Amino acid sequence: MANQTPTPTAPREPVLLSSNYDGIREYDNPMPFWWTSIFWLTILAAGPYFFFYHLGVGSSLNDNYEAEVGEYGAILAAQLGDVEADTPTILTLVERPELRMGGAALFKGNCATCHGPEGGGLTGPNLTDDAYINVKTPEDIFRVITNGVPGKGMPEWGKRFSKQQVLLLASYVANLRGTKPGSAKEAQGSVIEPWPKVEAPATPSGSAAPTK
Ligand code: HEC
Repeated sequence: MANQTPTPTAPREPVLLSSNYDGIREYDNPMPFWWTSIFWLTILAAGPYFFFYHLGVGSSLNDNYEAEVGEYGAILAAQLGDVEADTPTILTLVERPELRMGGAALFKGNCATCHGPEGGGLTGPNLTDDAYINVKTPEDIFRVITNGVPGKGMPEWGKRFSKQQVLLLASYVANLRGTKPGSAKEAQGSVIEPWPKVEAPATPSGSAAPTK
C-alpha cells in the first residue's frame, strides 16, 4: 500500500480500505467535490427553510394562494358596482362560484380567527346554526359586519372594507347557515326563522345570475 497519504496535487493512487466483507473489499474513493458541495448546501438550506415554512415566519404557498384569491375577490367585489344590500342579493350572491371563492377568502383571512375556519365559532359565535344574537334577517348580517358590535368584541368592518366586500362576506356568512363545521360552538342567542326563499336578482351586467 504505497502512497497512502497523497499530497493534494499528486494523482491519487487507489487506496483499499481495511474492511473485508466475505472477500468483498472497497476502495476509499471520496465523492466528487461537486457532489459533496450539493450535499452540504442542502443541509445548510434546510435550517432557514424549516424556520420560514414550518415555524410560521414566512408565508406558505397556500397562504400566498389564499391572499391572491382574496385580492381577486376584492376585484370581483368592486365589479359588483352599485349593488343593493337586500335579502335576495345577500342570499344568492355566493351562488356564483368566483364570488363564493372571494367571500371564502375574505372570511378565512379576517373572520376565521374568531368565528372558526368553517364558521363553527371560537371566541365569536357559531355562524352555522339557527341561533343568532344580533341577527333576524340576512340584512342584519350585512349591518352587523359593517357596524360591528361595540363592546362585544365584533369589529366594525365597514371601516376597512368596501360595501361590496362586506356584501360578499354577508352572502358567504348567510350561506354558512345550515352547514356542518368540523367543530361547532354551542348555540348563542335565540333561534330565528329560516331565511326566506328568494330568486337571485339580475346581475348589474344584465346577465342573469344562476337561480336555485
Ligand atoms: C376579534 C374577534 C372577531 C372577529 C375578527 C370577527 N368577529 Fe364577528 N363576532 C365576534 C363576536 C364576539 C361576536 C358576538 C357579538 C355579540 O355578543 O353580540 C360576533 C358576531 C358576529 C355576527 C353576528 C352573529 C350573531 O349571532 O349575532 C356576524 C354575522 C359576524 N360576527 C360576522 C363576522 C365576519 C364576517 C367577520 C370577518 C369580516 C367577523 N365577524 C370577524 C367576534 C369577531
